[in-house]
Amino acid sequence: MQFYSVFSFFKTFLPIKCSIFVSNKKNNAIFAPATYFNRVKGRQSNILLTKSLFNVMQFPTKINLCKHSRLSETNFDDLPFGKTFSDHMFIAEYANGQWGNCEINPYGNIEMTPANMALHYGQAIFEGMKANINNKTGEAMIFRPDLHLLRINRSLERMGMPEMPADLFYQSLHQLLAIDKNWIPTKEGASLYLRPVVFATDEFLGVRASETYKYVLLTGPTNAYYNKPIKLLVADKYVRAFPGGTGFAKCAGNYAATIKPAREAREQGFDQILWVDGLEYSYLQECGTMNIFAVIGDTVITPTATETILAGITRDSLIALLTHKGYKIEERPITIQELITAQESGELKEMFGSGTAAVVSHVIEFAYKGVHYQLPSADNRPVGSMLKKWLEDIRQGESEDILNWLVPVQSAVATN
Ligand SMILES: Cc1ncc(COP(=O)(O)O)c(C=O)c1O
Repeated sequence: MQFYSVFSFFKTFLPIKCSIFVSNKKNNAIFAPATYFNRVKGRQSNILLTKSLFNVMQFPTKINLCKHSRLSETNFDDLPFGKTFSDHMFIAEYANGQWGNCEINPYGNIEMTPANMALHYGQAIFEGMKANINNKTGEAMIFRPDLHLLRINRSLERMGMPEMPADLFYQSLHQLLAIDKNWIPTKEGASLYLRPVVFATDEFLGVRASETYKYVLLTGPTNAYYNKPIKLLVADKYVRAFPGGTGFAKCAGNYAATIKPAREAREQGFDQILWVDGLEYSYLQECGTMNIFAVIGDTVITPTATETILAGITRDSLIALLTHKGYKIEERPITIQELITAQESGELKEMFGSGTAAVVSHVIEFAYKGVHYQLPSADNRPVGSMLKKWLEDIRQGESEDILNWLVPVQSAVATN
Protein backbone atom coordinates (compact mmCIF):
# COMPACT_ATOMS: atom_id res chain seq x y z
CA MET A 1 0.00 0.00 0.00
CA GLN A 2 1.22 3.41 -0.93
CA PHE A 3 1.51 6.34 1.48
CA TYR A 4 1.25 9.94 0.41
CA SER A 5 2.30 13.02 2.30
CA VAL A 6 -0.44 15.58 2.35
CA PHE A 7 1.42 17.83 4.73
CA SER A 8 2.65 20.30 2.18
CA PHE A 9 -0.78 20.56 0.57
CA PHE A 10 -2.56 21.48 3.76
CA LYS A 11 0.21 23.67 5.09
CA THR A 12 -1.06 26.28 2.68
CA PHE A 13 -4.45 26.42 4.29
CA LEU A 14 -3.67 26.32 7.95
CA PRO A 15 -4.00 27.84 10.46
CA ILE A 16 -7.03 29.35 8.78
CA LYS A 17 -10.42 27.76 9.37
CA CYS A 18 -10.94 25.14 6.69
CA SER A 19 -12.89 22.11 5.65
CA ILE A 20 -10.91 19.12 4.54
CA PHE A 21 -11.84 16.13 2.44
CA VAL A 22 -9.13 14.04 0.86
CA SER A 23 -9.44 10.66 -0.71
CA ASN A 24 -7.57 8.45 -3.02
CA LYS A 25 -10.19 6.40 -4.81
CA LYS A 26 -7.61 4.20 -6.56
CA ASN A 27 -6.22 2.73 -3.38
CA ASN A 28 -9.48 3.05 -1.53
CA ALA A 29 -7.52 4.99 1.01
CA ILE A 30 -8.31 8.10 2.93
CA PHE A 31 -5.75 10.65 3.95
CA ALA A 32 -5.56 13.21 6.66
CA PRO A 33 -3.60 16.39 7.02
CA ALA A 34 -0.59 16.08 9.25
CA THR A 35 -0.39 19.83 9.61
CA TYR A 36 -2.29 20.01 12.87
CA PHE A 37 0.07 17.55 14.51
CA ASN A 38 2.95 19.61 13.25
CA ARG A 39 1.61 22.77 14.73
CA VAL A 40 1.00 21.20 18.10
CA LYS A 41 4.06 19.09 18.70
CA GLY A 42 6.40 19.68 15.81
CA ARG A 43 5.60 16.22 14.52
CA GLN A 44 5.19 15.28 10.90
CA SER A 45 3.45 12.16 9.79
CA ASN A 46 1.73 10.60 6.83
CA ILE A 47 -1.64 9.38 7.83
CA LEU A 48 -3.59 6.66 6.15
CA LEU A 49 -6.87 4.96 6.71
CA THR A 50 -8.09 2.10 4.58
CA LYS A 51 -11.80 1.75 4.03
CA SER A 52 -11.68 -1.74 5.44
CA LEU A 53 -11.39 -0.19 8.89
CA PHE A 54 -14.96 0.96 8.80
CA ASN A 55 -17.63 -0.99 6.98
CA VAL A 56 -18.92 2.09 5.27
CA MET A 57 -17.48 5.57 5.40
CA GLN A 58 -20.80 7.22 4.98
CA PHE A 59 -20.39 10.29 7.15
CA PRO A 60 -18.46 13.05 5.38
CA THR A 61 -17.10 15.42 7.99
CA LYS A 62 -16.33 19.12 7.71
CA ILE A 63 -13.21 19.80 9.69
CA ASN A 64 -12.67 23.26 11.14
CA LEU A 65 -9.44 23.25 13.09
CA CYS A 66 -8.87 25.77 15.85
CA LYS A 67 -6.60 28.69 15.08
CA HIS A 68 -4.81 28.43 18.37
CA SER A 69 -4.24 25.21 20.31
CA ARG A 70 -4.67 25.50 24.09
CA LEU A 71 -2.36 22.52 24.58
CA SER A 72 0.80 24.44 25.50
CA GLU A 73 -1.14 26.55 28.04
CA THR A 74 -2.60 23.51 29.80
CA ASN A 75 -0.98 22.38 33.04
CA PHE A 76 -0.93 18.60 32.75
CA ASP A 77 0.07 18.32 36.43
CA ASP A 78 -3.20 19.88 37.47
CA LEU A 79 -6.12 18.23 35.72
CA PRO A 80 -9.11 17.99 38.00
CA PHE A 81 -11.65 15.58 36.53
CA GLY A 82 -14.11 17.12 34.07
CA LYS A 83 -12.69 20.64 33.96
CA THR A 84 -10.24 20.65 31.06
CA PHE A 85 -11.38 20.10 27.48
CA SER A 86 -9.28 19.35 24.42
CA ASP A 87 -9.10 21.63 21.39
CA HIS A 88 -11.85 20.06 19.29
CA MET A 89 -15.24 18.38 19.42
CA PHE A 90 -17.17 16.22 16.95
CA ILE A 91 -20.80 17.08 16.21
CA ALA A 92 -23.42 15.23 14.16
CA GLU A 93 -27.10 16.00 13.68
CA TYR A 94 -30.13 13.79 13.28
CA ALA A 95 -33.02 14.99 11.13
CA ASN A 96 -35.47 13.42 8.68
CA GLY A 97 -34.70 9.98 10.01
CA GLN A 98 -30.94 10.03 9.49
CA TRP A 99 -27.64 11.16 10.93
CA GLY A 100 -25.46 13.59 9.01
CA ASN A 101 -24.01 17.13 9.03
CA CYS A 102 -20.86 15.87 10.74
CA GLU A 103 -18.35 18.47 11.78
CA ILE A 104 -15.22 18.70 13.85
CA ASN A 105 -15.05 22.17 15.35
CA PRO A 106 -12.99 23.93 17.98
CA TYR A 107 -14.40 23.05 21.42
CA GLY A 108 -16.90 25.73 22.41
CA ASN A 109 -20.46 26.73 23.07
CA ILE A 110 -23.41 25.45 21.07
CA GLU A 111 -26.31 27.75 20.40
CA MET A 112 -29.72 26.47 21.38
CA THR A 113 -33.25 27.68 21.92
CA PRO A 114 -34.68 27.73 25.45
CA ALA A 115 -37.53 25.67 23.97
CA ASN A 116 -35.05 22.85 23.27
CA MET A 117 -36.95 19.69 24.24
CA ALA A 118 -33.96 18.11 26.02
CA LEU A 119 -34.06 20.88 28.63
CA HIS A 120 -37.74 20.27 29.39
CA TYR A 121 -38.33 16.55 28.94
CA GLY A 122 -34.85 15.13 29.40
CA GLN A 123 -34.19 13.14 26.24
CA ALA A 124 -30.44 13.11 26.83
CA ILE A 125 -27.97 10.25 27.24
CA PHE A 126 -24.21 10.11 27.58
CA GLU A 127 -21.19 7.85 27.95
CA GLY A 128 -17.88 7.98 29.79
CA MET A 129 -14.89 6.28 28.17
CA LYS A 130 -11.10 6.51 28.09
CA ALA A 131 -8.25 6.67 25.60
CA ASN A 132 -4.60 6.22 26.49
CA ILE A 133 -1.20 6.17 24.90
CA ASN A 134 0.49 2.80 24.80
CA ASN A 135 3.77 3.55 26.58
CA LYS A 136 5.66 0.98 24.51
CA THR A 137 4.43 1.84 20.99
CA GLY A 138 3.28 5.45 21.39
CA GLU A 139 -0.05 4.51 19.78
CA ALA A 140 -3.31 6.07 20.95
CA MET A 141 -5.72 3.35 22.10
CA ILE A 142 -9.44 3.45 22.88
CA PHE A 143 -10.72 1.20 25.65
CA ARG A 144 -13.61 -1.10 24.68
CA PRO A 145 -15.50 1.24 22.33
CA ASP A 146 -17.72 -1.66 21.23
CA LEU A 147 -19.24 -2.02 24.70
CA HIS A 148 -19.75 1.72 25.00
CA LEU A 149 -21.58 1.71 21.66
CA LEU A 150 -23.83 -1.11 22.84
CA ARG A 151 -24.63 0.84 25.99
CA ILE A 152 -25.26 4.05 24.04
CA ASN A 153 -27.80 2.20 21.95
CA ARG A 154 -29.43 0.59 24.99
CA SER A 155 -29.76 4.05 26.54
CA LEU A 156 -31.04 5.63 23.32
CA GLU A 157 -33.61 2.89 22.81
CA ARG A 158 -34.96 3.27 26.37
CA MET A 159 -35.31 7.03 25.97
CA GLY A 160 -37.15 6.72 22.66
CA MET A 161 -34.22 8.22 20.75
CA PRO A 162 -32.82 7.09 17.37
CA GLU A 163 -30.10 4.48 17.21
CA MET A 164 -26.46 5.52 16.88
CA PRO A 165 -24.96 3.89 13.76
CA ALA A 166 -21.78 1.99 14.62
CA ASP A 167 -19.91 3.64 11.74
CA LEU A 168 -20.78 7.12 12.94
CA PHE A 169 -19.67 6.37 16.48
CA TYR A 170 -16.38 4.74 15.51
CA GLN A 171 -15.66 7.37 12.90
CA SER A 172 -16.20 10.17 15.42
CA LEU A 173 -13.80 8.55 17.88
CA HIS A 174 -11.07 7.93 15.35
CA GLN A 175 -11.36 11.29 13.64
CA LEU A 176 -11.43 13.37 16.80
CA LEU A 177 -8.67 11.44 18.52
CA ALA A 178 -6.48 11.59 15.44
CA ILE A 179 -6.70 15.38 15.64
CA ASP A 180 -6.41 15.73 19.41
CA LYS A 181 -4.05 12.82 20.05
CA ASN A 182 -1.54 15.10 21.74
CA TRP A 183 -4.09 15.82 24.45
CA ILE A 184 -3.85 12.22 25.68
CA PRO A 185 -1.80 12.41 28.88
CA THR A 186 0.93 9.85 29.45
CA LYS A 187 1.50 9.99 33.22
CA GLU A 188 0.77 6.85 35.20
CA GLY A 189 -2.98 6.45 35.70
CA ALA A 190 -3.79 9.49 33.51
CA SER A 191 -6.14 9.22 30.51
CA LEU A 192 -8.05 11.18 27.97
CA TYR A 193 -11.66 11.02 29.14
CA LEU A 194 -14.14 10.77 26.26
CA ARG A 195 -17.66 12.06 26.69
CA PRO A 196 -20.17 11.23 23.95
CA VAL A 197 -23.56 12.86 24.55
CA VAL A 198 -26.78 12.67 22.52
CA PHE A 199 -29.69 15.03 23.16
CA ALA A 200 -32.98 16.21 21.68
CA THR A 201 -32.97 19.49 19.78
CA ASP A 202 -36.57 20.09 18.64
CA GLU A 203 -37.87 23.56 19.44
CA PHE A 204 -41.19 22.40 20.86
CA LEU A 205 -43.13 22.28 24.11
CA GLY A 206 -45.10 19.07 24.64
CA VAL A 207 -44.13 15.59 25.76
CA ARG A 208 -43.25 13.52 22.72
CA ALA A 209 -40.08 12.25 21.10
CA SER A 210 -38.02 14.96 19.49
CA GLU A 211 -37.60 14.63 15.74
CA THR A 212 -34.10 16.11 15.75
CA TYR A 213 -31.04 15.33 17.88
CA LYS A 214 -27.41 16.27 18.27
CA TYR A 215 -24.51 13.95 18.99
CA VAL A 216 -21.45 15.67 20.45
CA LEU A 217 -18.17 14.00 21.36
CA LEU A 218 -15.99 15.98 23.77
CA THR A 219 -12.71 14.91 25.27
CA GLY A 220 -10.55 16.10 28.14
CA PRO A 221 -7.33 14.96 29.81
CA THR A 222 -7.54 13.76 33.38
CA ASN A 223 -4.92 12.58 35.84
CA ALA A 224 -5.15 9.45 37.96
CA TYR A 225 -8.27 9.68 40.07
CA TYR A 226 -6.78 9.23 43.56
CA ASN A 227 -9.89 9.24 45.66
CA LYS A 228 -9.51 8.40 49.29
CA PRO A 229 -11.19 5.21 50.51
CA ILE A 230 -14.92 5.88 50.68
CA LYS A 231 -17.59 5.67 53.38
CA LEU A 232 -21.03 4.59 52.18
CA LEU A 233 -24.47 5.35 53.56
CA VAL A 234 -26.95 2.61 52.71
CA ALA A 235 -29.99 4.38 51.23
CA ASP A 236 -33.15 3.65 53.21
CA LYS A 237 -35.20 6.60 51.98
CA TYR A 238 -34.22 7.30 48.38
CA VAL A 239 -34.12 4.88 45.44
CA ARG A 240 -31.97 5.19 42.30
CA ALA A 241 -33.95 2.87 40.02
CA PHE A 242 -37.09 0.73 39.82
CA PRO A 243 -37.98 -2.33 37.77
CA GLY A 244 -39.44 -1.02 34.56
CA GLY A 245 -37.57 2.28 34.96
CA THR A 246 -34.38 3.62 33.45
CA GLY A 247 -31.68 2.35 35.84
CA PHE A 248 -29.81 0.41 33.14
CA ALA A 249 -29.65 3.47 30.86
CA LYS A 250 -27.07 6.23 31.10
CA CYS A 251 -29.63 8.99 30.80
CA ALA A 252 -29.20 12.45 32.29
CA GLY A 253 -32.29 12.24 34.53
CA ASN A 254 -30.89 9.28 36.47
CA TYR A 255 -28.06 11.50 37.68
CA ALA A 256 -30.19 14.54 38.50
CA ALA A 257 -32.27 12.40 40.86
CA THR A 258 -29.18 11.36 42.88
CA ILE A 259 -27.81 14.84 43.54
CA LYS A 260 -29.96 15.71 46.57
CA PRO A 261 -29.58 12.28 48.25
CA ALA A 262 -25.80 12.41 47.67
CA ARG A 263 -25.62 15.90 49.19
CA GLU A 264 -27.53 14.74 52.26
CA ALA A 265 -25.17 11.77 52.63
CA ARG A 266 -22.15 14.08 52.44
CA GLU A 267 -23.67 16.33 55.12
CA GLN A 268 -23.71 13.25 57.38
CA GLY A 269 -20.02 12.55 56.69
CA PHE A 270 -20.36 9.92 53.95
CA ASP A 271 -18.79 10.00 50.49
CA GLN A 272 -21.37 8.10 48.49
CA ILE A 273 -24.66 6.29 48.78
CA LEU A 274 -24.88 2.52 48.65
CA TRP A 275 -28.09 2.11 46.68
CA VAL A 276 -30.39 -0.80 47.44
CA ASP A 277 -33.46 -1.95 45.54
CA GLY A 278 -36.71 0.01 45.76
CA LEU A 279 -39.05 -2.88 46.55
CA GLU A 280 -37.50 -4.52 49.63
CA TYR A 281 -34.75 -1.96 50.40
CA SER A 282 -32.50 -4.94 50.80
CA TYR A 283 -30.61 -5.93 47.65
CA LEU A 284 -27.37 -4.08 46.85
CA GLN A 285 -27.43 -2.18 43.57
CA GLU A 286 -24.61 0.32 43.06
CA CYS A 287 -22.54 2.81 45.05
CA GLY A 288 -22.66 6.43 43.93
CA THR A 289 -22.05 6.21 40.21
CA MET A 290 -20.10 2.97 40.42
CA ASN A 291 -20.87 -0.73 40.46
CA ILE A 292 -20.25 -2.50 43.76
CA PHE A 293 -18.07 -5.54 44.56
CA ALA A 294 -17.62 -7.38 47.88
CA VAL A 295 -14.97 -9.96 48.71
CA ILE A 296 -16.47 -12.43 51.18
CA GLY A 297 -14.09 -15.18 52.21
CA ASP A 298 -12.35 -16.15 48.99
CA THR A 299 -15.24 -15.21 46.71
CA VAL A 300 -15.74 -11.95 44.84
CA ILE A 301 -19.43 -11.08 44.58
CA THR A 302 -21.16 -8.39 42.56
CA PRO A 303 -24.90 -7.91 42.06
CA THR A 304 -26.33 -9.29 38.83
CA ALA A 305 -26.65 -6.48 36.28
CA THR A 306 -30.44 -6.31 36.20
CA GLU A 307 -32.57 -3.55 34.64
CA THR A 308 -32.09 -1.41 37.77
CA ILE A 309 -28.29 -1.41 37.48
CA LEU A 310 -26.04 0.32 34.97
CA ALA A 311 -23.90 -2.50 33.56
CA GLY A 312 -20.47 -0.94 33.93
CA ILE A 313 -17.77 -1.60 31.39
CA THR A 314 -15.25 -1.55 34.24
CA ARG A 315 -17.44 -4.07 36.06
CA ASP A 316 -17.40 -6.32 33.01
CA SER A 317 -13.63 -5.91 32.68
CA LEU A 318 -12.93 -6.70 36.34
CA ILE A 319 -15.10 -9.83 36.17
CA ALA A 320 -13.19 -10.94 33.07
CA LEU A 321 -9.79 -10.31 34.71
CA LEU A 322 -10.82 -12.15 37.88
CA THR A 323 -12.11 -15.08 35.83
CA HIS A 324 -8.86 -15.11 33.84
CA LYS A 325 -6.86 -15.27 37.10
CA GLY A 326 -8.99 -18.12 38.43
CA TYR A 327 -10.77 -16.21 41.21
CA LYS A 328 -14.15 -17.40 42.44
CA ILE A 329 -16.51 -14.75 41.14
CA GLU A 330 -20.27 -14.68 41.57
CA GLU A 331 -22.76 -12.39 39.87
CA ARG A 332 -25.84 -12.80 42.02
CA PRO A 333 -28.29 -10.91 44.22
CA ILE A 334 -26.66 -9.90 47.52
CA THR A 335 -28.55 -8.40 50.46
CA ILE A 336 -27.39 -5.82 52.94
CA GLN A 337 -28.02 -8.44 55.65
CA GLU A 338 -25.55 -10.84 53.98
CA LEU A 339 -23.01 -8.04 53.95
CA ILE A 340 -23.56 -7.24 57.64
CA THR A 341 -23.34 -10.93 58.63
CA ALA A 342 -20.08 -11.28 56.69
CA GLN A 343 -18.68 -8.12 58.31
CA GLU A 344 -19.62 -9.35 61.80
CA SER A 345 -17.98 -12.73 61.24
CA GLY A 346 -14.81 -11.17 59.80
CA GLU A 347 -15.44 -12.73 56.39
CA LEU A 348 -15.97 -9.40 54.61
CA LYS A 349 -12.43 -8.78 53.39
CA GLU A 350 -12.95 -6.03 50.83
CA MET A 351 -15.56 -3.85 49.22
CA PHE A 352 -14.98 -1.58 46.26
CA GLY A 353 -16.80 0.45 43.66
CA SER A 354 -15.85 0.19 39.98
CA GLY A 355 -16.17 2.78 37.25
CA THR A 356 -14.35 4.35 34.32
CA ALA A 357 -13.20 7.44 36.25
CA ALA A 358 -11.68 5.88 39.36
CA VAL A 359 -11.36 2.28 38.09
CA VAL A 360 -11.55 0.95 41.68
CA SER A 361 -12.56 2.87 44.85
CA HIS A 362 -12.01 1.03 48.10
CA VAL A 363 -14.83 1.14 50.65
CA ILE A 364 -13.71 1.43 54.28
CA GLU A 365 -17.06 1.81 56.00
CA PHE A 366 -20.77 1.46 55.40
CA ALA A 367 -23.63 2.54 57.63
CA TYR A 368 -27.08 1.00 57.76
CA LYS A 369 -29.92 2.27 59.97
CA GLY A 370 -27.51 4.23 62.17
CA VAL A 371 -24.98 1.40 62.71
CA HIS A 372 -21.48 1.85 61.23
CA TYR A 373 -19.62 -1.19 59.91
CA GLN A 374 -15.85 -0.95 59.42
CA LEU A 375 -13.84 -2.84 56.83
CA PRO A 376 -10.15 -3.84 56.93
CA SER A 377 -7.66 -1.08 56.11
CA ALA A 378 -7.63 0.09 52.51
CA ASP A 379 -3.82 -0.41 52.52
CA ASN A 380 -4.33 -4.15 52.49
CA ARG A 381 -6.72 -4.89 49.65
CA PRO A 382 -5.13 -7.57 47.51
CA VAL A 383 -8.08 -7.99 45.14
CA GLY A 384 -9.19 -4.38 44.53
CA SER A 385 -5.66 -2.96 44.36
CA MET A 386 -4.48 -5.72 42.03
CA LEU A 387 -7.42 -5.11 39.70
CA LYS A 388 -6.94 -1.34 39.61
CA LYS A 389 -3.25 -1.65 38.76
CA TRP A 390 -3.81 -4.40 36.19
CA LEU A 391 -6.53 -2.53 34.33
CA GLU A 392 -4.55 0.73 34.32
CA ASP A 393 -1.46 -1.14 33.15
CA ILE A 394 -3.41 -2.73 30.29
CA ARG A 395 -4.70 0.70 29.22
CA GLN A 396 -1.20 2.16 29.18
CA GLY A 397 0.44 -0.80 27.46
CA GLU A 398 2.40 -1.84 30.56
CA SER A 399 0.53 -5.15 30.75
CA GLU A 400 -0.44 -7.31 27.82
CA ASP A 401 -3.93 -6.65 26.45
CA ILE A 402 -4.80 -10.30 26.93
CA LEU A 403 -8.50 -9.89 26.20
CA ASN A 404 -8.13 -7.57 23.18
CA TRP A 405 -9.88 -4.60 24.67
CA LEU A 406 -7.81 -1.81 23.14
CA VAL A 407 -8.54 -0.40 19.70
CA PRO A 408 -5.77 1.67 18.08
CA VAL A 409 -6.81 5.10 16.84
CA GLN A 410 -6.68 5.29 13.06
CA SER A 411 -5.03 8.58 12.34
CA ALA A 412 -7.51 9.71 9.75
CA VAL A 413 -9.34 12.98 9.71
CA ALA A 414 -10.93 12.91 6.30
CA THR A 415 -13.61 10.82 4.69
CA ASN A 416 -14.90 10.11 1.23
C1 LIG B 1 -24.71 4.81 37.65
C2 LIG B 1 -23.40 4.24 37.22
N1 LIG B 1 -23.09 2.98 37.57
C3 LIG B 1 -21.93 2.40 37.19
C4 LIG B 1 -21.00 3.11 36.46
C5 LIG B 1 -19.73 2.44 36.04
O1 LIG B 1 -19.75 2.21 34.66
P1 LIG B 1 -18.42 2.16 33.81
O2 LIG B 1 -17.57 1.12 34.45
O3 LIG B 1 -18.85 1.80 32.45
O4 LIG B 1 -17.81 3.52 33.89
C6 LIG B 1 -21.27 4.43 36.09
C7 LIG B 1 -20.31 5.21 35.31
O5 LIG B 1 -20.44 5.30 34.13
C8 LIG B 1 -22.50 5.01 36.47
O6 LIG B 1 -22.80 6.26 36.12
